[in-house]
Amino acid sequence: MSESLPFRSAVVPAAGLGTRFLPTTKTVPKELLPVVDTPGIELVAAEAAEAGARQLLIVTSPGKDAVAAHFAPMPELEETLKERGKDALLEKVRRAAELISVRTVTQHEPKGLGHAVACAADALADDEQAVAVLLPDDLVLPTGVLSRMAAVRAEFGGSVLCAFDIPGPEISAYGVFDVSDTADPDVKRVHGMVEKPPADEAPSTYAAAGRYILDRAVFDALERITPGAGGELQLTDAVALLISEGHPVHVVVHRGGRHDLGNPGGYVRAFVDFALQHPDYGPELRSWLGSRLEG
Ligand code: G1P
Repeated sequence: MSESLPFRSAVVPAAGLGTRFLPTTKTVPKELLPVVDTPGIELVAAEAAEAGARQLLIVTSPGKDAVAAHFAPMPELEETLKERGKDALLEKVRRAAELISVRTVTQHEPKGLGHAVACAADALADDEQAVAVLLPDDLVLPTGVLSRMAAVRAEFGGSVLCAFDIPGPEISAYGVFDVSDTADPDVKRVHGMVEKPPADEAPSTYAAAGRYILDRAVFDALERITPGAGGELQLTDAVALLISEGHPVHVVVHRGGRHDLGNPGGYVRAFVDFALQHPDYGPELRSWLGSRLEG
């Protein structure tokens, strides 16, 4: 691995059933739902590539082949667009395939996020000492937090996660960190991590936000955990196990925005937010929304 690259592979768990988006997800994987015109997973792939990843390891379940197909070239469509001089569309169609090389790994049983990440272990080369994990439900904005996290790994070693400050009862929907300060107010040392605690038992207001740089040691920890919250093998529990064994874990507190594409309410907000910033659709949407809200 080149010294300047903290990780070469980025794991994107995308094996879920997407039940909150039924009936659409009967046939369309949740990860392909468009944010304006681009599937959420392409946004996440672009973020991974921007941070230096060369390979996207998409963990899918049987029947979700369309997720990887999105990253394959489409020669016939590309030829047609070329003939018609539709250069801007051609660029859009080619973008996913050009961003990053994609490999899929199948998770045959829905045993949880920890299990999904563990499925990617065999796809890593022997010299990859760390891996990024990006949960495609989470959009962390603006992008760039992975690069900050990589710098923290370079300084402290071990694993580095992204945290959001969530001061309220919603904290119980997340993995929550027990932290202490470092010299940098946006970097905390992690002493423990618990998955979806009751709000009054949360060790802090810092929640895991779907971006991880994990030392390769996590794969060994994932083999040793037992089912946790929701009866599933939790990535949080593998991180907690590493911490208990002295492995350094830090978080970068992201002070920017985020969207949760994992449920229709969050998805609608993301869609509107991106559409408002779109040069073609933004101005008209803004004025329509204004009058719609008055009415
Ligand atoms: C997962 C993780 C959790 C994390 C969250 C971020 O939970 O298990 O630790 O805080 O993603 O979105 P899920 O939302 O899949 O239940």
